[in-house]
Amino acid sequence: MTTKGFVSLVGSGPGDPELLTVKALRLIQQADVVVFDRLVSAEILNLIPHGVSQISVGKSPGKHCVPQDQINEIIVSLALSGRRVVRLKGGDPYIFGRGGEEALVMRQHGIPFEVVPGVTAAAGCSSYSGIPLTHRGLNHGVRFITGHQKNDETLDIDWHKVADPDCTLVIYMGLANLQTICTELVRAGLPVTTPAAAIHGGTTAHQQKVIATLSDLADAVVTAELKSPVTTIIGEVVTLSDELDWFQPDYQQDERVVAYDSFNLARA
Ligand SMILES: C[S@@+](CC[C@H](N)C(=O)[O-])C[C@H]1O[C@@H](n2cnc3c(N)ncnc32)[C@H](O)[C@@H]1O
Repeated sequence: MTTKGFVSLVGSGPGDPELLTVKALRLIQQADVVVFDRLVSAEILNLIPHGVSQISVGKSPGKHCVPQDQINEIIVSLALSGRRVVRLKGGDPYIFGRGGEEALVMRQHGIPFEVVPGVTAAAGCSSYSGIPLTHRGLNHGVRFITGHQKNDETLDIDWHKVADPDCTLVIYMGLANLQTICTELVRAGLPVTTPAAAIHGGTTAHQQKVIATLSDLADAVVTAELKSPVTTIIGEVVTLSDELDWFQPDYQQDERVVAYDSFNLARA
């Protein structure tokens, strides 16, 4: 009888390898196989020791991502064959990372697992762009929402609920719908002058930050040619961005392009 393996659902943070937790690094170093998403940075993938199998299940240009059911099957089959599997995800596994779904699948198959939190994009982009998500006197809370709907359907968001001037709003995956999001927030009552920021590649050498207002954020993002991944932060806290700016992205830094076999179970 084969002994069941073990699955670690590990958050890798938003990109800067130094934001990886000590636990995440140890698990990567001890893994038999690492199954990783597109948003795990090349620098972090470079920390995987030689000889540890790597399986990419993320979307790469011109290719389709591996469907979630298939990702589940891959992890389950690796674990059932006795492997120590690190399921490496961008940011935090339990924040818009489908980590809960994968954990449930492990539970259903009786596979032992653990979850290792990572720095979520909201926290990384906030710190590295000088925008505290909460700031006494400026807001009383923060809300994370997704700006993307399954199968690119129309956004199903209660705009009146999220258009709260006292609450910072962080939008994940909202780049394609940014104009709609800003328009709906204004329609639901947020002033057009509400400060807003879009951050691409937060915490990485390629970080780009666009600061605007709700009325012109979408245009400014197009002008700046921001590409995914982008996190949007809306609220008065954005006004601190210039004063609290400290991070100097190094656009010259040569990011090694690492080519990975996609979904190559044979190597695992
Ligand atoms: C599928 S969600 C994954 C979120 C992830 N689990 C987390 O906790 O950050 C992908 C979205 O996260 C955001 N994101 C991830 N990494 C980012 C980065 N380095 N800079 C800006 N946004 C990022 C973007 O909004 C992107 O569309």
